[in-house]
Amino acid sequence: MSLEQVIDLKELKALKVELTRFMMAYKFALDEMNTKINILKEEFSYIHDYNPIEHVKSRLKSPESIVKKILRKGYDFSLDSIKENIRDIAGIRITCSFISDIYELADMIANQKDIKVIEFKDYIKNAKPNGYQSLHLILQIPIFMSDREELTYVEVQIRTIAMDFWASLEHKIYYKYNKDVPGHMVAELKEAAVMASQLDKKMERLHNEILELKQADQEGELQQLIQLSSGNVLEQFLAKKE
Ligand code: GTP
Ligand code: MG
Repeated sequence: MSLEQVIDLKELKALKVELTRFMMAYKFALDEMNTKINILKEEFSYIHDYNPIEHVKSRLKSPESIVKKILRKGYDFSLDSIKENIRDIAGIRITCSFISDIYELADMIANQKDIKVIEFKDYIKNAKPNGYQSLHLILQIPIFMSDREELTYVEVQIRTIAMDFWASLEHKIYYKYNKDVPGHMVAELKEAAVMASQLDKKMERLHNEILELKQADQEGELQQLIQLSSGNVLEQFLAKKE
């Protein structure tokens, strides 16, 4: 083996170590976010008596997708540029039960001391022209490595089951179809998104109605309890007098 080849091999090994460590920060960021989300889910379930999170999916962007995005957006190929520009290498998708859960969860995440919200894109209040709905957060969280602290970007998408249903199927329908989509299909998909949104609103309304009924029941029970216990106190008082 020539000296040049040895040097190349050394460089290649160093590059591999650098790349692996680069990707590790994102994996740790996902681990950390998943722990935070699990804690919020348990605590929320305890306080509100129901679990607001239907499911959570996390993924690391594949090297192929990273390269494709660099080319698509015309970014520089350096690690520094990738770190700064590609903010969805670590991605988490949280599917919630109701629209209000989305905002409550987003607030709980954003209010954590070690999390910085870099971007807050509300595609629920302002749906994309094709009908797409979700709340997107770009966060930055510190990851403590053996020799350094790495501020790492994480993209969190929060949506309802209906929004997720629409987005997943829309993606499947369009996937790898690079030509212009016929106009009637665009219109029909948009119509489907509006239907999904109406379904979300209806479910939220029913959820709130039951909450109010439950609350009224609890208040009624409390009143009865108070009356009963004050009755007992009166009986005890009269018994003492006799
Ligand atoms: P990217 O360059 O793809 O990251 O887009 P962006 O930086 O403009 O971010 P945006 O918030 O618009 O979208 C980011 C992600 O949201 C995408 O990678 C998808 O996962 C999802 N998304 C956005 N728009 C759509 C859509 O129209 N349909 C579906 N199915 N998913 C979407
Ligand atoms: Mg993206």
